[in-house]
Order: sequence, then C-alpha cells, then structure tokens
Amino acid sequence: MNSAQHIECITEGKTEFLVFKKKSSKKGPGSKDKVPFYNPAMELNRDLSIPINQWLIDNSNIHVDILDGLAASGARGIRLANELVGDFDVIINDWSLDAYDLIKRNIKKCKLKNAFAVNKNLNTLISDRRFHYIDIDPFGSPVYFVDSAMRSIYNDGIIACTATDTATLCGVYPKVCLRRYGVRSFHSPVMHETGLRILLGFICREATKYDKGIEPLICYSTDHYFRVYVRVKKGVGRANKSAGNLKYATPKELFSPREDVADVGPLWLGKIENKKAIHELISYVFKKKLNTKGELLKLLDLLENEADAPPFFYTTDNMASSLKTSVPRMSYIFEKLKKKGYDVARTCFSPIGFKTNAPRDEIEEIFKQRR
Ligand SMILES: C[S@@+](CC[C@H](N)C(=O)[O-])C[C@H]1O[C@@H](n2cnc3c(N)ncnc32)[C@H](O)[C@@H]1O
Repeated sequence: MNSAQHIECITEGKTEFLVFKKKSSKKGPGSKDKVPFYNPAMELNRDLSIPINQWLIDNSNIHVDILDGLAASGARGIRLANELVGDFDVIINDWSLDAYDLIKRNIKKCKLKNAFAVNKNLNTLISDRRFHYIDIDPFGSPVYFVDSAMRSIYNDGIIACTATDTATLCGVYPKVCLRRYGVRSFHSPVMHETGLRILLGFICREATKYDKGIEPLICYSTDHYFRVYVRVKKGVGRANKSAGNLKYATPKELFSPREDVADVGPLWLGKIENKKAIHELISYVFKKKLNTKGELLKLLDLLENEADAPPFFYTTDNMASSLKTSVPRMSYIFEKLKKKGYDVARTCFSPIGFKTNAPRDEIEEIFKQRR
C-alpha cells in the first residue's frame, strides 16, 4: 500500500475502521484521487443502509447475501457486517488494490467472520454471482452498473444507488443526461424531484427489459447526491405495472413558465416512497447506534409524510413572485389548505416546497388573501 501515511481510524455507528484520509485539500473526495478517500459527508447515507439491511434480513427467512460493490475503504460493508444481526454475509468489493488491502485490514481489525474482501470490476463480480442486496455508490453516475445489478439481484432483493452527477440530473447538462440516462432533462424549480424521477425511470427501464419490476422503498435527494433504494420483483405483470409508471411531464407540470420546450421524460411518475416500509424503518433507526440518528429520523419523518403526495411541488417563493404577493409562512399555507380539506406535506426536495392535492386556484386564493 502506497498511502499508509494517510490512513486514519474513524468511528461510525458501533464500528471503528481505517480509512484513507485527505490531509491538505479542502475539497471533498473525487474520482481523480489516486486512492478512494473517506467522505464524512456520506455518513447519513451509510447510516441509513444499516436499518434497511436489518429490515431486509428480518423480513427474509433465508440466508441473505449483501454486496458493498464500490466499497473504497469498506466503510459501509464493514459496518454492515459488524452492526447487523442475523443470517447474512457481506461481500466488500473494490477494484483498487489500495482499497482492497485496506478492506482486508478492516475485516481483520473488526474480527469479522461474515465479511469477505473482493478485488474485481463490479460488473464482472455481479455477472458471476447473485445477491439479495447490492449497493452501488460510485463517483458520479450509477448507470454503468445497473444492468448487471438487475441480472444479479434475487427476486425481492434491494438495489441501492447513489448518484452524485446532480447537475446532469437537474437539467444543467441536457445532452449528457440524454446520452447517459436516455432522458430529456429540464432545469426547473422542481429539478431535484425531476432528477430523482429520471434516475428511477432509468432503473425501471433496466429492470423491465429483464421482465422485472421495481418498487421504490426510500428515495431522497440532498444538495450533493441522490439516493434510491428499490425492491426488484420478477414477473411480466410486475414489469408491465412498473413500465406503466414511465411518463412524460409538460414544462407547466414542472412549474416552468416556458412554453417553447418539449415534454420532459421518460420519468418515473409512480410513488417514490413506501410509507409502510418507512414507518417500520423508523423503529429500526431508534434501535441502532447511529451518529446521524436525529438527522435521519427527521428525514424519514419527512419522507413518510410526503409518501402519498402527488408528484412535484409548489415553492412559496415562486408562487408569491408569480402572484406578486408577499411570501406567507408555511404554517399559514398548511393551516388554510387543511381547513379546506386538502392534504398538504413538506418535501425533501426543497425547504420552501410543499405538495398538495389542492387545485392551483385554491392555492392562489390563499396567497392572494395575504396581499
Ligand atoms: C465513491 S467511492 C465509494 C465510497 C464508499 N462506498 C464509502 O462509503 O466510503 C467509489 C469506489 O468505487 C471504486 N470503483 C470505481 N469503479 C469500479 C468498478 N468498475 N469496479 C469496482 N470498483 C470500482 C473506486 O475505486 C472507489 O473506491
């Protein structure tokens, strides 16, 4: 290993492990770095995979094979092996030799009997073996691995993907999005939700070509990444049902004033959260030792509340500026809409966003009353 001087010991959850730590640069880890550095900003992302995998193990009556496919130091896989209980193994893979050596050191350090280091191209590994959970956490886009993950995943298994190519998914680079995801993207006030639905639409198409369907369990976006957990179910009926959720949205539906652009899509316009699963996961989060527990519970609460809301959302700023009114407090909007019998929820996609089944003229009325 040529980077010994950068190795540090970190604790996440109940696990102490070694990572490659960047010394001088303030910038986060990137794909151009020679060794895959530890990214502390992803701790919540890793934390969430603990209760999800515990939920998967507890709901399976068979041995569960878990794969941390792009593992770097193995932070996620080592934690899964150390913090989960039940009948399972964790395969921790990275094609970098430095990473592989560190993963082996971490397995030894944590005295793990159920974790195994692998040093392969992820696509080769999952072309040869099948798993019940596959985690794809790349630098940038996960698209290069989803096809083989769909072939590898067992029926009812979970594929988890992170995407950090947020600018592409949010419509900043439409040509890249068309090439990479096969989708006409769009920069709009609801671009984060559109981006997530582009990613889910892509994953759905990768599933349906193998007569499989997807059921999103938990999906969210932050400023830096998108994260989706989808359950994969085999069968033509399931595939057809999933494909039925692939649709196009007009710029107007994406709250854009532009009329000179084509419809956006194909997007996944089905549900993006599974309310029942999130509800169950919340109790798992309470039981686990997680450094981001407070933040995670807030996120899950938000996602549970918006689970039944329609796609896309209004923002207080946009509504107020288009109606030339002042910006009302969110609590005022919620109170008025609920009084009129409508559902309304906050959204993970924007702190000033709200989702409702109320017609637009009712919402405008509420804003105008504040003029
Ligand atoms: C963003 S890092 C993973 C971070 C890690 N999951 C964590 O939580 O710390 C991406 C990793 O993928 C590895 N990688 C990239 N392409 C790969 C491939 N085709 N097969 C296997 N590993 C790959 C890189 O070496 C890098 O370590």
